[in-house]
Amino acid sequence: MLSEKLLKALNDQITHEFASANLYLSMAAYCAAQGYEGFSSFFIMQAEEERFHAMKFFHFVNELGGQVVISGYPDPQQEFASVKDTFEKALAHEKFVTKLINDLLDLAESEKHRPTISFLQWFVDEQVEEEDSFNTIIDKFNIIGDTGPGVYMLDKELGQRTFSPEGSDQ
Ligand SMILES: [Fe+2]
Repeated sequence: MLSEKLLKALNDQITHEFASANLYLSMAAYCAAQGYEGFSSFFIMQAEEERFHAMKFFHFVNELGGQVVISGYPDPQQEFASVKDTFEKALAHEKFVTKLINDLLDLAESEKHRPTISFLQWFVDEQVEEEDSFNTIIDKFNIIGDTGPGVYMLDKELGQRTFSPEGSDQ
């Protein structure tokens, strides 16, 4: 049986995942405006992934017989100091999401709600990958600097990213 408290926490996470998608789209818009089409495309893929996360929660709540509640969310940040700054903000955001997932797992464990505990394990693993992915990109920026030919090459590299929901590990 899904408690009201756990249902609300799961619904809140749906809102956070959609809000994440919006934040990444905002970063995509900023990068495109700076002329970095590859970084922009990368963040669009990231936004797709966040919508996929939101829908995983959506279907899970439905399967449990709870009613999904779609809530609004604040405007995302729209201006950034540089393209490197967008990736630093993205990493900080993923650390925030990791905390949300961990808090949700703590709640599910305190209620001994095994389906949610099991469901969340995928997200625990996913957050490790998300943080690692952004850390790796920031490491590259630290090597090549904020501007110049290296950034042009990195833009080309990250523009190759694709997203497919099944077996997604990006
Ligand atoms: Fe997510």
